[in-house]
Amino acid sequence: MAVRLPPSFGAITPTIQPMTPLAVDVRDLEFRWPSGASVLSACSLAVPKGEFWMLLGTNGSGKSTLLRLLAGLLEPANGSIGIDQPVGFVFQNPDHQLVMPTVGADVAFGLVAEQLPPAEVRARVQDALSAVNLLDFQRRPIYALSGGQKQRIAIAGAIARHCPVLILDEPTALLDPDTQIELVSQVQRLVKERGLTALWVTHRLNELDYCDGAFLLQNGCIVARGKPDSLKQRLMTA
Ligand SMILES: Nc1ncnc2c1ncn2[C@@H]1O[C@H](COP(=O)(O)OP(=O)(O)O)[C@@H](O)[C@H]1O
Ligand SMILES: [Mg+2]
Repeated sequence: MAVRLPPSFGAITPTIQPMTPLAVDVRDLEFRWPSGASVLSACSLAVPKGEFWMLLGTNGSGKSTLLRLLAGLLEPANGSIGIDQPVGFVFQNPDHQLVMPTVGADVAFGLVAEQLPPAEVRARVQDALSAVNLLDFQRRPIYALSGGQKQRIAIAGAIARHCPVLILDEPTALLDPDTQIELVSQVQRLVKERGLTALWVTHRLNELDYCDGAFLLQNGCIVARGKPDSLKQRLMTA
């Protein structure tokens, strides 16, 4: 179901206790394109370690720009970004992300910069593929995977690199409803079993059932945050 936003959500409800350890801590972020167009302004959000949070907002509200800032692909004009490193990034379209001919080679490719011994690379690839239930697919050509399997390989790449934080930009946008639910529930399980932290952009409200909390971005600013149920309720009745 698509998100329809009311003009304003009023006051922000803080849900995070001061002493909660944070994996993502963004404060007063500002970003504008070289044209001068402002995308983010006074944008602040925090994701506690070990939790699965979602980011919602209409098209053009700045969600992808915010994630690209978190991944270090863009520089903010102002504000601060604290995020546990390395960050694993999963794109909407896995064909923009998977670069090697086979599954095993693709996951191993992400480890090249670390110059690990071959046995360690093999162990990391196997661990990552079993985490996403695709261990048997190690020799499979990338072209012979479904969209959902490709997204799981992209996630395996981040797990192999031991990324404590996953940021995922509409990873289910190109998936059918069954595969969509399979992916979101798998990420929920990975977050809980491996102590990861995930920030997931979506416009599909049924995915909110799987997260610990959600943010609403409107005109480049977080205007609401809280429990998924209350945000879902507000968006559905808007
Ligand atoms: N590379 C770019 N150069 C200039 N403007 C851009 C670029 N990418 C996105 N924008 C603009 O920035 C705004 C926010 O875009 P985006 O972050 O992609 O929003 P969302 O992901 O929420 O749909 C939009 O107005 C969009 O047109
Ligand atoms: Mg986007």
